[in-house]
Amino acid sequence: MAKAKSFLKEIDYSKKEIEDFINLALRFKKLKKERIPHRYLDGLNIALIFEKASTRTRSAFTVAGQDLGMNMSYLGKDDIQLGKKESLVDTAKVLGTMFDGIEYRGFKQESVELLAEFSGVPVWNGLTDTWHPTQMIADFMTIKEHFGKFEDLTLAYLGDGRNNVANSLLVTSAILGINVKIIAPKELQPESEIVDLAKKHQTEGLITITDDTAAVADTNILYTDVWVSMGEEVDFKERIDLLLPYQINQALLNRVRKPNALVLHCLPAFHDLNTEIGREIYERYGYKELEITDAVFQKHSQTIFQEAENRLHSIKAIMYHSLKNI
Ligand code: CP
Ligand code: NVA
Repeated sequence: MAKAKSFLKEIDYSKKEIEDFINLALRFKKLKKERIPHRYLDGLNIALIFEKASTRTRSAFTVAGQDLGMNMSYLGKDDIQLGKKESLVDTAKVLGTMFDGIEYRGFKQESVELLAEFSGVPVWNGLTDTWHPTQMIADFMTIKEHFGKFEDLTLAYLGDGRNNVANSLLVTSAILGINVKIIAPKELQPESEIVDLAKKHQTEGLITITDDTAAVADTNILYTDVWVSMGEEVDFKERIDLLLPYQINQALLNRVRKPNALVLHCLPAFHDLNTEIGREIYERYGYKELEITDAVFQKHSQTIFQEAENRLHSIKAIMYHSLKNI
């Protein structure tokens, strides 16, 4: 029962349910803009477990929970016994006796599933190595705000096609019936299990996996993400060499034939030298911008930051849906 109310991965939900999350998020956005109080979950207690860094997800869960009247407790990886002195299952059992819901950002998908199984309270996946489902509600909400519909749209993701965001975009587009293209070098194309899941849950649309960037021509939405994800131990230079042809830059945008194409990025992004890692990469390899050029990022920054803001409204909808009948 509690597990059914958790939000662990997109394939646990139908097209209608995902659309309902998006519509609820749009309603919460309106309430927030109009400063209409919505402390519908007053007094509940929520744990926020982060085993990886976060700006948007952490902030969105915190503010969304507070707006709903809940108490949000941040449990960082170095603050609790989890993993070092206490197993995930024991931690789940303890937290389930004290908290009404748990957000978890970590490594293995299995961990968030176990947490849901053994805590007995709703658990929300704030990103694992496999999926980033809360991000999807914000992304498709932004797409809906922009186009007003999902029918006949084509989304192309360029970059590391095997990461959590690529996996989530692939299955969520398939569930919603949006044409989806993962444009990535052969070495970084999605695992066959993920493509099979997308096909299994697909309602309409086409799934394309290709290494040919010419596939951007008929797309309405271009999406990219960092080339090396949190927790990945890879040779940065090798990754850059593989992915440079998949950078979102003006030359690539010039090949898009659809008018008003949207550019999205889940953030954080390497588009300039205003980060430590960005500067380190520049000093070592001479690249000032990676997955997206600064010019394109700035040109599309309004929608990219709208997408970031929508994390707040969508996470509020997700928590509210899980807890509204408590
Ligand atoms: N997009 C996203 O999940 O951002 P954070 O890593 O800052 O939470
Ligand atoms: N693929 C990225 C997403 C960050 C929001 C990562 O896992 O680091």
